[in-house]
Amino acid sequence: MAPVTAFAPGRVNLIGDHTDYTGGWVLPMAIEMGTTVVGDRGGRHVELASDAVAGDDRRIAFPVPVAGRLTQAGWGRYAEAVAAELGVVDGFSGRVSSDLPIGAGLSSSASLEVAVALALGCEADALGLATLCQRAEQAASGVPCGIMDQLASAAGVAGHALLIDCTTLAVEPVAVPDDVQVVVVDSGQARRLAGSAYAERRHQCQIASAQVGPLRQATRAEVERIADPLIRARARHVVTENARVGQFAAALRAGDPAAAGRLMLESHRSLADDFAVSTDALDRLVAGLVSRPGVWGARLTGAGFGGCVVALARPGAVETGWPVRPAGGATLYL
Ligand code: GLA
Repeated sequence: MAPVTAFAPGRVNLIGDHTDYTGGWVLPMAIEMGTTVVGDRGGRHVELASDAVAGDDRRIAFPVPVAGRLTQAGWGRYAEAVAAELGVVDGFSGRVSSDLPIGAGLSSSASLEVAVALALGCEADALGLATLCQRAEQAASGVPCGIMDQLASAAGVAGHALLIDCTTLAVEPVAVPDDVQVVVVDSGQARRLAGSAYAERRHQCQIASAQVGPLRQATRAEVERIADPLIRARARHVVTENARVGQFAAALRAGDPAAAGRLMLESHRSLADDFAVSTDALDRLVAGLVSRPGVWGARLTGAGFGGCVVALARPGAVETGWPVRPAGGATLYL
């Protein structure tokens, strides 16, 4: 049988962070960097070697079907969790390569999951693929992540960001104008405590919605009546961020990158002050970027606690970092 090749992109989130798991709005875009899995289906094991990993951890192998608890550590755990969710009985032997920086906030793990799921034979549509991989991510990492990363990777549309309604899971492509450059700059700061702090934020949002109802529908005035100042601040971020996502999509459509950039900066402040997921390094990076001519806005992207910032700029205005183009979603080549 001919080898199969599966590719799944990473993503950068333009705006709408820590909103997906409350049924809110997000606006990520799939990028050209991603994970490729090449190999042959068959046999009783999944055996993979990664070009992105050195040393003993390069190769992983586990039997299928995956029964009971996950046994793998490191990157193999994500592949094993995908195989478990899929319930595959046929194995796979092949190679994994990636040009995504690992663990920098560009969804290297979601991209790995989606590529592995396609390679192993997942035939679901983009939404089914994404929800399967979201469950795998949660099982492998123990972090109660939302749907954004896996859905951006599965459903990407070239030239477009994706306006995702995380209540209905409807995906609406929004064109990113050619004269707008999206640049990702790595803070170089590995994300710390991201898992436990992420779960804590999610829990705080649940406390808020127990008081004021779903945050997606809550008004700013309702949120300001929450007694606990910490819970109030978390909910304020979510409610204002949801509004910013809609305004940002409108600014992109109207060809107004300056307005989009201002919303990014407001988003960063809200993530830093109300949601407390920024770091000094991220704050400094954002301040430095927006002080340059030709940069309309910048913000931390993804979960925070380190990782990357994303900037919106005139082409050529930012020389550091990775210029990224909005790319298509995951693909299987048979
Ligand atoms: C991580 C999660 C996503 C989302 C972001 C924050 O990337 O995997 O589901 O919650 O953090 O917006």
